[in-house]
Amino acid sequence: MKRPARAGADPPPHLLATPRATGWDPHPAQRPPHRHDPVQQVIAPTGHHISLVTGHDEARHALTDPVFVHDIRRLHHREHGFGGRRCPDDIFAVEGRHPLNSDGAEHQRLRNVLAPLFTRTTAAHQHHMIDGACDAVLTRMARHDTPELVAHFARPLTVHVTAQLMGIPTEDIAELTALTLAMVSGRDPELCEVRRDRIALTRLWARIIGRRRRTPRQDLLSQLIRAEENGALSRQELVSTAWGVFSGGITSTTAFLASGAVELMNSPRHQAMLRTPRQTHALIAELLRLTSPFPFAAWRFALEEVTMGGTTIPQGTPVLISLAAANRDPSAYACPDALRPEHRRHSHLAFGNGRHYCPGSHLARLVAAVALRSLFRRFPRLRPAVPLSELSRRGSLIDRCYRSVPVHLVPRH
Ligand code: HEM
Repeated sequence: MKRPARAGADPPPHLLATPRATGWDPHPAQRPPHRHDPVQQVIAPTGHHISLVTGHDEARHALTDPVFVHDIRRLHHREHGFGGRRCPDDIFAVEGRHPLNSDGAEHQRLRNVLAPLFTRTTAAHQHHMIDGACDAVLTRMARHDTPELVAHFARPLTVHVTAQLMGIPTEDIAELTALTLAMVSGRDPELCEVRRDRIALTRLWARIIGRRRRTPRQDLLSQLIRAEENGALSRQELVSTAWGVFSGGITSTTAFLASGAVELMNSPRHQAMLRTPRQTHALIAELLRLTSPFPFAAWRFALEEVTMGGTTIPQGTPVLISLAAANRDPSAYACPDALRPEHRRHSHLAFGNGRHYCPGSHLARLVAAVALRSLFRRFPRLRPAVPLSELSRRGSLIDRCYRSVPVHLVPRH
């Protein structure tokens, strides 16, 4: 593949350094972008040469520019994209197309099915269920000798809420969660065990969907099944869209609850903002900017050669947009590494921008508001049980959640 001319003989840097080497901030891409280099050529963990977009304005633009396509099949030459080294249908699909790997009319059709299921009103109807789930999860967490915020709070809560919303049978939730986390763990898609997990996940979804088809309810999965029966989705799109919603819902929201809680633990002033809805809204928005639960948008591919931020991106190049870096670009946000909910003028990019903007954003904000409020109301003196510099993150591009956040709970008496 043609490479852009680079100044000097240095090879492009690697996208990820190991968490151990870089400690608290494992993503070079999470650091503010070089002022003159908002688009860079880098080497992905898979060894592929890719273009990394880190500037705020460039990221906002790239998220909507139709020259960057999601559907790898639209590239004209086989040697472009991932060069045939990944599954042709891309690792994130269980079986076929879903909103994040489709473009244009195909994407719009899939979005039209999802949009009515994710309005602000449908999210608000879940308030009671989310509240009850928070109470139950916090009560269970309080019983642990060594409580920690990922395994005992963020993940069980998020999985429960997403499974309830979708109508996943209780007996399938644990296996579905384990397989989903395995699929987004960043392993080489060509490994035997990854293929085996992929097949197991596809079979599990077939079983879950078959059961829901026989006993439909008012849940999201039943409505996706109805869309398939009406011809709005193919069978494969039903499976991959259901999986996209489940995996997108649990990975991002788990990461957000854990990192949001970490940011707030040492700041009673910001915790107090959770008491009023307007301040909560500003606080959640600023936490989303600062923590960027999905550090990167989904893979895109340059349909044509394009120059952006002074860098030429050759036709066919995989493009990764760092939402985390864009959200901390000092040209868009003063003191970008500080939590300053009262002072932000620009909206953040944590939910993306344009046609692929996260449909789960209302739900995610509501879950975060209810969960963080409940957490700090029940444990107002919650504090980390280890230095924050010792926390590490999961190692894939999609899932950068903290592995574990041990805490001391000091309940309200
Ligand atoms: C804090 C939580 C969340 C964050 C930060 C987040 C972030 C994002 C981002 C950045 C995108 C767009 C990616 C791109 O343009 O490449 C996206 C898309 C998507 N998200 Fe979320 N998300 C969150 C929660 C959720 C939830 C709770 C659900 C569903 C239960 C969900 C379902 C989806 C789906 C289906 C898409 C694909 C939309 C499309 O391509 O048209 N997300 N999300």
